[in-house]
Amino acid sequence: MMLQSKIDETTNVDIPADLSAEFLHRFGSVPQIFRAPGRVNLIGEHTDYNDGFVMPVAIQFYAYVAVAPRDDMRIRLHSLNLEESAEFSLSENAPRTRGHWSDYIRGVAGVLSAQGVAVGGADLMIQSEVPVGSGLSSSAAIEVGTALALLSLSGRALAPIEIARACQRAEHQYVGSLCGIMDQFIACFGQAGRALMLDCRSLNYELVPTTDDTRIVICNTGVKHEHASSGYNSRRADCYAGVSSLRAHGIPLVRALRDVTSATLDSCRGFLPESVFRRCRHVVTENERVLHAATALKTQDMETFGRLMYESHRSLQNDYEVSCRELDVLVEIASGLPGVYGARMTGGGFGGCTVNLLRLDAVEEFIAGITREYKRKTGISADVYVCVAARGAGSALEA
Ligand code: GLA
Repeated sequence: MMLQSKIDETTNVDIPADLSAEFLHRFGSVPQIFRAPGRVNLIGEHTDYNDGFVMPVAIQFYAYVAVAPRDDMRIRLHSLNLEESAEFSLSENAPRTRGHWSDYIRGVAGVLSAQGVAVGGADLMIQSEVPVGSGLSSSAAIEVGTALALLSLSGRALAPIEIARACQRAEHQYVGSLCGIMDQFIACFGQAGRALMLDCRSLNYELVPTTDDTRIVICNTGVKHEHASSGYNSRRADCYAGVSSLRAHGIPLVRALRDVTSATLDSCRGFLPESVFRRCRHVVTENERVLHAATALKTQDMETFGRLMYESHRSLQNDYEVSCRELDVLVEIASGLPGVYGARMTGGGFGGCTVNLLRLDAVEEFIAGITREYKRKTGISADVYVCVAARGAGSALEA
């Protein structure tokens, strides 16, 4: 399926027409509606939980959360995507991973309550345009949309950074994925026409304009990933093991891989297990690439930006080992097509999507070429999304 309606390059997405009506039909009241976007990360992968740098953009696919209050302490949920309902009591919502889609909502409700927000009973209906399990941050979109919905009913306002942190905590405590801050941060702070260069240690960020004559095109391998069960947490553990070893061997002032240069890491190769060394090398070189890429974007040097994307992919493939054959095939095909500056896997990996940066005038030929060749090589029909950098979370009525 090609999301044709998403190729019109608008950042003003309509609220799904049937959401209010479905809500009224199912729950008997008129909802408020909030939304939060998915994201694509241009460069800076698996660096966020190492205090490093990332450069995501919010994309014009949103998770919509419709909400109305109830007068008891229950949350009733309905997912229009799954056509499934769930229900839980706010008084029995201690942190626990259930392996159910409602964990995201339970998590947000639980974490907000734990930090003193008066979360009350609510009916919630969710409809998301963000492809699930594709590395485009469908989870953070639902978490942030839910947080806005529950906060609105509670009458309490939280700063966007507090919302991002609460949603990250929800994912740690109720979903079991020890994710970094990138996805929730961009869902809250994304701006139309801007990439967001984020320092994940200080949380200082800079919004860098994307260029008019380039396009961000996402290709979906059709292979779904599962972070919690697919090595995400173990990669994170490898990074922390690397930091502990460096400290144990007297490398001063290393709090995180962010503090390590390539030269220092190379000098430590002898005492790090080979796989830990390679995990660390990915993170250290990826941080260097993001800083370099930010300068390239500011000077509109897309050739350099693209080259850094290819290098990032190779590093994720060989050192971090979070790519898969289908992602590699997509990147390889992209690298042979005209007008492509760069391509790489995006998100956690083990499936999901590639992000491609190309000349505006090359988009049509790219879509035709990549879908044809990917099908020929893998037998899978790739979904392709032409993206614009979209605005972050808010009331759906602000669109
Ligand atoms: C997932 C996590 C993020 C980040 C990426 C990899 O999307 O949620 O925090 O670690 O993987 O860059």
